Amino acid sequence: MKRIPMEVLKNKRILLGVTGSIAIYKSLELVRLLRKADAQVKVMMTKSARELVSPLTFETLSQNPVCSELFAPKTEWEVEHISLARWAELFIIAPATANIIGKLAHGIADDALTTIYLAYRGDVFIAPAMNTAMYEKPVVQRNLEQLIQQGVRVIEPELGELACGEEGKGRLVEPAKILEIITTHFSRALSLKGKKVLVTAGPTREFIDDVRFISNPSSGRMGIAIAEEASRRGTEVILVLGPTLIPPPKEPGITVIPVVSAEEMSSAVESHIKSSHIAVFAAAVADYRPVTKSTGKLKKGKDSMELRLEPTPDIALRCSQSKTPEQIFIGFAAEVGDNIPEAQRKLREKKFDLILLNDISLPETGFASQTNKITLIHSDNKIEHWEKMTKKEIATKLMDAIQLLLDKKSKLK
Ligand SMILES: Cc1cc2nc3c(=O)[nH]c(=O)nc-3n(C[C@H](O)[C@H](O)[C@H](O)COP(=O)(O)O)c2cc1C
Repeated sequence: MKRIPMEVLKNKRILLGVTGSIAIYKSLELVRLLRKADAQVKVMMTKSARELVSPLTFETLSQNPVCSELFAPKTEWEVEHISLARWAELFIIAPATANIIGKLAHGIADDALTTIYLAYRGDVFIAPAMNTAMYEKPVVQRNLEQLIQQGVRVIEPELGELACGEEGKGRLVEPAKILEIITTHFSRALSLKGKKVLVTAGPTREFIDDVRFISNPSSGRMGIAIAEEASRRGTEVILVLGPTLIPPPKEPGITVIPVVSAEEMSSAVESHIKSSHIAVFAAAVADYRPVTKSTGKLKKGKDSMELRLEPTPDIALRCSQSKTPEQIFIGFAAEVGDNIPEAQRKLREKKFDLILLNDISLPETGFASQTNKITLIHSDNKIEHWEKMTKKEIATKLMDAIQLLLDKKSKLK
């Protein structure tokens, strides 16, 4: 990312949830930095947080009253946790204790902070802070995983010396770093306004008869994450989505076109490709389909059976034939092993600007998983090896790379 000016935070409405971690002193500094950047800050504290620091300190730094009691006498008629949820443009919990992580992961709402989490529709960040043993406890890791699945962005704690005297992972990220993450988040919003993005996602089904089909375990998660991130940046998104178990996105900026077969996906793509500035081919399209489809249900017999297959349309290859120099095409290559030459061949053949290679033989990567380990290959042969990360994080990094490409193309004009 380019260096982002701090004005991005001016008048942004940030709700900061503070919980009972010894790292609470850092959130005082975070409030100070946010106020310095002219953001509006309202703080919510849990009961344990109030044992460690007085609300008055946060009130003085944020220049706003602190909300901490669900049943406190009201000064206004509005229900406070609902009005705060409507007010905030970003909700961040820093530090986040193991306790709050567990409660949020399971939908428990027994105080003001946990209740507001359920009432809040926008983007949520949490920055965990705790002793290493607590952080590594499988139940805490499972709860974090659960929150990631719910769309929460986790700012991973750092390695280092902890207040308990131990060394390890669990240190709250420094306030300046949190400020940078928040700033980057706001600067990305609407940064691609006016662009149209076409995304394909999910598997396709190629029917053998009325009840059986050839397919693959793709969940559609990667393409959906890309569609959501593109929409957050202000683009109009067309998501051509094969049959998936996960619910399609509901953002108003995303039009979902449900399809079943490769042929249907191909014709849906064809009607939108010309008008799209960016196309991301993330679907796991079946390569072959039965030459003929039987009606009804094929009867089970004793003899072996032959199924004749023919190639399905190569959607990206078809689109590449009419690609304009202004358009940006992104492909995916799921390979067994780190097969860079094969990904590069696909990139050249289909005129991709970038291709994301993922090695599906690695654990917790590829089809149906939450995470992926990507090698990003550029058309000028530059290669980036990304750490294993969630599909949401990959979507964010990919949209950053697309943004850079667009900037480059517009400079060349
Ligand atoms: C001095 C002190 C420091 C603590 N620091 C942490 C911490 O860094 N992380 C954590 O998960 N819990 C920590 N705890 C335990 C939590 O405060 C406790 O689990 C509490 O129930 C959390 O409540 P809350 O999540 O509603 O704020 C600490 C407790 C004390 C007394």
